[in-house]
Amino acid sequence: MNDRLDSVRQSIHHFLDRTRPAPVRIISACAGDGRDLLGALAIRDDAGRVTGLLVEYDVTLAARARATADGLAAHLTVTCADAADAAIYADAAPADLVLMCGVFGNISDRDIKRTIEALPQLCATDAQVVWTRHRAEPDVTPRVRKWFLEAGFEEISFVAPDGDTWSVGTHRFAGERQPLEPADHWFTFVR
Ligand SMILES: C[S@@+](CC[C@H](N)C(=O)[O-])C[C@H]1O[C@@H](n2cnc3c(N)ncnc32)[C@H](O)[C@@H]1O
Repeated sequence: MNDRLDSVRQSIHHFLDRTRPAPVRIISACAGDGRDLLGALAIRDDAGRVTGLLVEYDVTLAARARATADGLAAHLTVTCADAADAAIYADAAPADLVLMCGVFGNISDRDIKRTIEALPQLCATDAQVVWTRHRAEPDVTPRVRKWFLEAGFEEISFVAPDGDTWSVGTHRFAGERQPLEPADHWFTFVR
């Protein structure tokens, strides 16, 4: 799991290195305590150019993320809410980086597809999405990668080490941002 965390942080660093010194907007859905994004930002001297929204349902985890975020130079809002509600993102979208980490392993395949199809509502053109999914059988990641391509994304990387079941994908949105449909609800955690 720490390797997965390191891999997600590495993708965040690549994104920040590539976009430096421009201001960037970041969304993290189901952020937990924010350790991936906040851990990456904590060691950067350019965190002040980051604006972002972290959405987490659990009150304790959201409070922990908020306390960490408050100590950083980045301008981050932590909202305790249902990250599946499109309306939550009205002020934060379109983003330049969207984190969907620890989400696809906890929702149905149908909801994974629906969420990927909705990501153009959250992404500016050229935005990157970093996502994770375990590869325990039946491995859904081949279909996840196909769904991203069908939704207008190009694959930048797919890290899936032999001997481990975690994987981290990074996709670039090559299409035009779609308007947010605020009444939409994209997924429900089932695990
Ligand atoms: C597997 S953890 C992932 C945390 C973090 N993104 C990571 O990858 O380490 C899933 C998180 O999603 C949160 N969660 C579950 N359902 C949610 C929902 N509908 N909206 C927001 N957060 C939710 C859980 O409380 C938990 O913190």
